[in-house]
Amino acid sequence: MSQDLIRTDATGATGGAAAGFELIELADPVAVAEHVAALLLHERRRRPELPLGLATGRTMEPIYRALARQIGQLPFAEGERLRERWLSFNLDEYVGLAAEDPRCFRSVMTERLVLPLGLDPERVRLPDGTAADPDAEADRYRLELEAAGGVGLQVLGLGLNGHVGFNEPPCGADVRCRCINLSASTRAANASAFGGNPEAVPARAITLGLGEIMVARSILLVVTGAAKAGILRWILQGPPTPELPASWLHRHPRVLVVADRAALGRGDNG
Ligand code: GLP
Repeated sequence: MSQDLIRTDATGATGGAAAGFELIELADPVAVAEHVAALLLHERRRRPELPLGLATGRTMEPIYRALARQIGQLPFAEGERLRERWLSFNLDEYVGLAAEDPRCFRSVMTERLVLPLGLDPERVRLPDGTAADPDAEADRYRLELEAAGGVGLQVLGLGLNGHVGFNEPPCGADVRCRCINLSASTRAANASAFGGNPEAVPARAITLGLGEIMVARSILLVVTGAAKAGILRWILQGPPTPELPASWLHRHPRVLVVADRAALGRGDNG
């Protein structure tokens, strides 16, 4: 990896009780994307029998671009094998958008992952946000993931209010896949895809719960940008609390946090 990779004990970085996390600090979102994409590729080769857990959001966008480029550089036969054996489950989906709506996460994954990588769309799983009964769809999705063996490596972005997936605070450590109401702050944070209007952001979503996330074999929490510095600091410090859903990750034995300097509150000269 590049020279700007610094391995730091999260406890040392924050002075808090973050003993369970391993932390990798990288220069910027581009370096984060290259590193995370390489980890995803490594995971698909090492543990192809278990699905990847994937996220959407701005943090993930450069990661999918880097992943497409890295897979494109593989020898043809290896790329083919990877495509054939691909299986991923996304964390969440808005409720009520039409299937062809470009803002639903199914469309986002088609554009960012399925088409660039040449994947079978059936092997990129998401909850169905168009289902007539979203609660029943959440149960169906949970059972489908369980039948696939549960997630191998789960990638998570971090919401500004500490949410992971769409697990809004307050949130217990054992909640399951379900249909939830989105908070006003999350609708505001995601409004850019909806013409800047928080009211246009769907009010509900289906999300995997902390229950499914915490049984992933390993977890990668990816955080970039100065806007996340405050919330990331809280998460790294712990202790776990329902007010910060991501803080439950302290109870998971294998969490790697990959963050850029800005998200760690380090200025250019810091
Ligand atoms: C969103 C999504 C999450 C995402 C997080 C951070 O609301 N439900 O899956 O990881 O919030 O989003 P972003 O990367 O755009 O900051």
